[in-house]
Amino acid sequence: MQLSTKHLLGIKDLSAEDISLILATASQFKEVLQRPVKKVPSLRDITIVNLFYENSTRTRISFELAEKRLSADSINFSASASSVSKGETLLDTVNNILSMKVDMVVMRHSASGAPHFLAKHIPAAIVNAGDGINEHPTQALLDAFSIQEKIGSLEGKKVLLIGDIMHSRVALSNIYLLKKMGAEVMVAGPPTLIPTYIKEALQVKVEYNLKKALQWCDVANVLRIQLERQNQVLFSSLREYNLAYGVSKKLLDGLQKEIVIMHPGPINRGVEIDSDVADSSQSIILQQVENGVAVRMAVLYLLAGKKAE
Ligand code: CP
Repeated sequence: MQLSTKHLLGIKDLSAEDISLILATASQFKEVLQRPVKKVPSLRDITIVNLFYENSTRTRISFELAEKRLSADSINFSASASSVSKGETLLDTVNNILSMKVDMVVMRHSASGAPHFLAKHIPAAIVNAGDGINEHPTQALLDAFSIQEKIGSLEGKKVLLIGDIMHSRVALSNIYLLKKMGAEVMVAGPPTLIPTYIKEALQVKVEYNLKKALQWCDVANVLRIQLERQNQVLFSSLREYNLAYGVSKKLLDGLQKEIVIMHPGPINRGVEIDSDVADSSQSIILQQVENGVAVRMAVLYLLAGKKAE
């Protein structure tokens, strides 16, 4: 089976079949990662550049590891240590890198649409590793993989996204994916951090009371407040945010059931999530990070197969 797209720019462009194929392929790679020798020769003839114009810990290391596990040649580019600071444009930078015979570009950029722009201008396959407030498709795929691994099929599951929905590319990619796979989605947070169009445009439930939202869900994905993307004051203080929307052990103990707790990272302990929740047995935060490598191996492997067509 093949993906329907040449690039992974966003979950919006994928079909449910594409998503199922990526998740099934990731299962096979997860099995490879349990072996003493965690490496396969699948991408031995492929060269990949990791083009990071914005900071990252998890996504960058995860892609680098995925490439090494697939035996690809990889190059790491960090905008802060490059000729971008001398005024070089994104397109010139990428064309210079491609002239050294690179097959795939993994890209993170603070501008929404940057990978879509590149995809129109260069022949290499592009993987979006997070673009501004638009999408973070591999995060949504690893989140889906982690939910499936913990509680089975996404169909009919109730998934809650809590926090800064307005500035979160993780939220948008998760909403697209979960809806395509038949899950029910609710968002919760302060009204100033939830776009008004979201209910009708994306067919999600909106709840401003965190306790009610937690009572509804099977899985709660807790998001960071993206202060670096906010150019106006949207809530009074981090302390007040924590009191109204922070996920605490006391809140979870008051529910009639045990829900699964997720977070894409980086975590701001004591703001959106308390330490005794993040580190509890209900939390699958580190499993999400572990699964990221298998999911990214699946994406790179399937896109490389598409390129060879
Ligand atoms: N989840 C995520 O994208 O984390 P990084 O910003 O550290 O890559």
